[in-house]
Amino acid sequence: MNIESTSLIFFSPTNTTRKIVEGIAQGLQPTSKQYFDLTPPGATGQMRQEFNQDVAIIGAPVYAGRLPSVMLSRFKQIKGNGKPAVLIVVYGNRAYEDALIELRNVAIEAGFKPIAAGAFVGEHSYSTSNKPIAIDQPDTEDMVKAHAFGQAILKKIQTASNIPNEPLYVPGNFPYKEVQMRASIAPSVNEALCSRCGECALVCPTGAIDRENPVSTSKELCIRCCACVKTCPNGAKAFGSRE
Ligand SMILES: Cc1cc2nc3c(=O)[nH]c(=O)nc-3n(C[C@H](O)[C@H](O)[C@H](O)COP(=O)(O)O)c2cc1C
Repeated sequence: MNIESTSLIFFSPTNTTRKIVEGIAQGLQPTSKQYFDLTPPGATGQMRQEFNQDVAIIGAPVYAGRLPSVMLSRFKQIKGNGKPAVLIVVYGNRAYEDALIELRNVAIEAGFKPIAAGAFVGEHSYSTSNKPIAIDQPDTEDMVKAHAFGQAILKKIQTASNIPNEPLYVPGNFPYKEVQMRASIAPSVNEALCSRCGECALVCPTGAIDRENPVSTSKELCIRCCACVKTCPNGAKAFGSRE
């Protein structure tokens, strides 16, 4: 069987997950690709539809050893319709703990049939030039691996007669690691550097940044994803802490 269509379903505030998902999709050599980007605040509107592509690649970043709760609530809008799915988590070189097993379980609940899974390293959201963590990853070597992984999955799909009924094994624990509730925080802003261009507000996945006054961020909505920090052309935003 050749793959006609592949869905790329991902949540990726700082784009490392997106790159890995795209690399795997290239290896699958589909005739067409459909993007279901769960990152923007308005993403859920386009999600309320049945899933009909041949294969889905579902990607998420690891937050505190689990999946981001915002991603989970958006992902629940999708119905898998029994289609095969490739599950990917991307983590900042610390650990992915229970994120992959959580992704497997939510994918099954949504009606997908997981056939392959992988964990890749991406530059840590809190990486800075002063304290680099997995800087510039995924790099060329990572992308070659993602592409090769996609090719291996294609071969598996072409040669397997059917999808096994038992759930795909992935590392992780259930019950999952508990996520500690943290005090609400937002990035600090150097007002002298901020040009009020609003780039940060455009990339914020929860609409936490005021578009009219981008110096102001809602602590309640902020998920500390660092999209604003990494997007700011003037280096005006920063988080003090790391996971
Ligand atoms: C709130 C938060 C929690 C994180 N927790 C972990 C973690 O537990 N382990 C880890 O290795 N990386 C962790 N990271 C780093 C991200 O998983 C990593 O940078 C990932 O590549 C970001 O994906 P994205 O570029 O698609 O947003 C965390 C990042 C954030 C923002």
